[in-house]
Amino acid sequence: MTDLLSIDDLGAEGIAEVLRLTDSFVEVTNRPIPRVAALRGKTVVSLFFEDSTRTRLSFEAAAKRLGADVMTFSAGSSSLKKGESIRDTIQTIEAMGVDALVVRHASAGVPAQIARWASSVVINGGDGWHEHPTQALLDCYTIQQRLGSLEGRRVAIVGDVKHSRVARSDVKAFAALGADVTLVAPPTLLPPTLVGWPVGVEADLDQVVEKVDVLYLLRMQRERMTEALVPSLREYTARFGLTSERAARAEDAGAIVMHPGPMNRGVEIAAEVADRPNVVVVDQVRNGVPVRMAVLFLLLGSRRDLLDGPAGGVVGEVPEEAEADVRG
Ligand code: CP
Repeated sequence: MTDLLSIDDLGAEGIAEVLRLTDSFVEVTNRPIPRVAALRGKTVVSLFFEDSTRTRLSFEAAAKRLGADVMTFSAGSSSLKKGESIRDTIQTIEAMGVDALVVRHASAGVPAQIARWASSVVINGGDGWHEHPTQALLDCYTIQQRLGSLEGRRVAIVGDVKHSRVARSDVKAFAALGADVTLVAPPTLLPPTLVGWPVGVEADLDQVVEKVDVLYLLRMQRERMTEALVPSLREYTARFGLTSERAARAEDAGAIVMHPGPMNRGVEIAAEVADRPNVVVVDQVRNGVPVRMAVLFLLLGSRRDLLDGPAGGVVGEVPEEAEADVRG
């Protein structure tokens, strides 16, 4: 694998490899100095044409904790504003000597197009409605951490599937690891066709709340809606929102609740529900850093480092300059 544009680039074995490696990087992130030198000398660029809090910051933290240099590109303050094309922007950035581009864009396919132009590694940080592969990886890791495995687990993905790149990557990843996935949404918030999707469909959230191991809530992506797809947000919340009553039933049945963030409290999830102990949203964010360390390491680290093993090889070492950083 030279780029990560889709969960398809990994398959079940690749996902399992990322999750195994993530265990080692969780150990690194729990150290007093959460830093190793595995990617020393490499430069990672976060190239975000669309807003982000979690993905951008966790990729930047992951790269720094691996000893890489980080460059941050902000579309809003770049020469794109003066009419420079994306292709010329990529050529300009690559001329400075970089190794990886983490790309987010509002249009599907832009990271793949950039990968055709660029000689650096390209990682999809979310493109339009298409995919968000590292979100799916951190979601798999979080489920595995909480429930042991995805094999045979029943997962309901609830809400605005139509506009969700997270849903598209999650469905592939969860199914690849053996989960039984059900989409719960009104027909207007489902994709026009589900041919090829390894999922079941249910229109009544109350029918699944007590029957699943994972309730995965999606954000209502109003910025991507060009027409009214639900009669009103109030009605959507009543039928598909995780109300306190539904949350209590799910909790009693042992389900965990996930959400990729950012949450619309009071829409897809009741404000007070979001802080319940079986809601693992903070775990998802926390796991995003070691998962992205694993992805960066697999794409940019040397095979020798891998063969040496994360525990005993370069991944396990705290470099001298990291200790010096702390000593000041
Ligand atoms: N889940 C996610 O992609 O969040 P951000 O938009 O904050 O990166």
